Amino acid sequence: MHLGDWEKIRSKILYSFLLFVVSLAVGILAAVVVEHCAQTRQRETQIENAHTDYKAASASGGKQSDELTKKVALTFDDGPNPDYTPVLLDELKKRGVPATFFVLGTEVEQYPKLVRRASEEGHLIGVHSYKHVNLRQLSDQQAVEQVNRTNEAIHAACGQYASYIRPPYGCWKEDLDYEVQMVEVLWDIDPRDWATTSADLVVQRVLQDVEENSIILLHDASESSVRAACMIIDRLQAQGYTFVTVEELLME
Ligand code: NI
Repeated sequence: MHLGDWEKIRSKILYSFLLFVVSLAVGILAAVVVEHCAQTRQRETQIENAHTDYKAASASGGKQSDELTKKVALTFDDGPNPDYTPVLLDELKKRGVPATFFVLGTEVEQYPKLVRRASEEGHLIGVHSYKHVNLRQLSDQQAVEQVNRTNEAIHAACGQYASYIRPPYGCWKEDLDYEVQMVEVLWDIDPRDWATTSADLVVQRVLQDVEENSIILLHDASESSVRAACMIIDRLQAQGYTFVTVEELLME
């Protein structure tokens, strides 16, 4: 054999070896990519399935677990009211429904027993303000006083301080966050119940906008508002909604 033949064989072997190495590398790379895609698809399918299960459960008003319950919160501002709060409390009790009351300090001082009753019957008491004022139009000190005087009145009435505040007109002073350690609660649905005597109109406005986790704003300050509250509860319970306090709604 010539030396040249050896050279040819050697280069053929080298060439074959290189081809083998490159094929191996390409093969491994392809396997990794395919595996990755399969995993991603599997994950996507799992997420999709979980979503579908959740939707199906909510659609059937499912109460399989706490997370699948459709929750909604009724809130009543400006009370307690000696004429309408007792009627409302009776109706809520009949239906086993807890609500949240954002009360005025002046009214709490006049009707502490109503606040105590509401608290004892499982309702959440929150601060509205002392007098019905726009806190933004006050100095910081005056605004803090509005909150603290109301909270003292609540404490005197039911033995507990409130942790939640709904400032009148939804106007909170952001710079008070540090001085007043309360959770601000606004609303999702405002049927303007105070501006009408038609309970039906209030119900209609609420039902057209309500969805899961809605916070509904009402006032325990008129006969029509109380009637509207009762109808809203009956209609939404029939649709599979469960009423909770805003605290329970916000905790999730
Ligand atoms: Ni108000």
